[in-house]
Amino acid sequence: QNIVLIGPPGSGKGTQAPRIRDELCLCHLSTGDMLRDAVEAGTELGKKAKAIMDRGELVPDELVIGLIDNASKSPECDRGLLLDGFPRTDVQAAKLDNMLKEKGTTIHKAIEFKVNDDILIERVEGRRVHPPSGRTYHVKFNPPKVDMIDDVTGEALIQRKDDNAEVLKRRMTAYHNQTAPILQYYQQRSILQSIDAMQKIGQVTQQLDEILYKSI
Ligand code: AP5
Ligand code: ZN
Repeated sequence: QNIVLIGPPGSGKGTQAPRIRDELCLCHLSTGDMLRDAVEAGTELGKKAKAIMDRGELVPDELVIGLIDNASKSPECDRGLLLDGFPRTDVQAAKLDNMLKEKGTTIHKAIEFKVNDDILIERVEGRRVHPPSGRTYHVKFNPPKVDMIDDVTGEALIQRKDDNAEVLKRRMTAYHNQTAPILQYYQQRSILQSIDAMQKIGQVTQQLDEILYKSI
């Protein structure tokens, strides 16, 4: 099955995605992670995306669509896609529909991570990430065993460049203006389900399990 996760910055998409991926053997595609990898690797795409991401705006549709189109062709993705941070505009949503239709499949569930805007600043300011794996921690809500060290590899954790109050404001504006409208699009198709993403990490996982194990 193909699942889309939609929610504002810091709402918990990247925290929950690996759990769903492992349980359902889906291929987790995070356009944010892919773009950060491209920036790190200094590719043409990375060069185009860097300044836009640092400002907290959305990178052009055709760039992220290209990333998803490529990545979804990998054989690992045959069992289904778990999309995190894509689609984020109505153009991306329409393109995704076409891409899936060509493969003879469709989106089975769109899950909205509902949160109040005012809790997000603490979430993003306390976030620490392990870029090679995409693993995410939080200094207060999900601390690593050793400060600033990844539990699994022992490598260093970093803070994302866009995780500060000023850039967060722009990311939220982008979410409300460009991304939130696609919720209605999925609602009309009766595939939208919302969860309370303000609960503790484990409770959010439970809500997701309830949605995902209901027959599709
Ligand atoms: P992206 O990487 O997608 O960032 P985002 O959407 O802003 O989402 P985040 O990664 O900030 O939030 P999350 O929901 O994954 O939260 P997390 O689980 O880490 O995009 C970055 C940029 O790339 C964009 O601004 C744009 O420029 C570009 N981009 C990406 N995709 C694009 C697209 N499709 N089109 C155009 N441009 C695109 O959790 C956050 C923190 O909270 C963590 O520390 C975590 O430990 C903690 N936490 C999680 N859940 C809980 C909980 N329940 N309780 C307490 N703490 C929690
Ligand atoms: Zn994320």
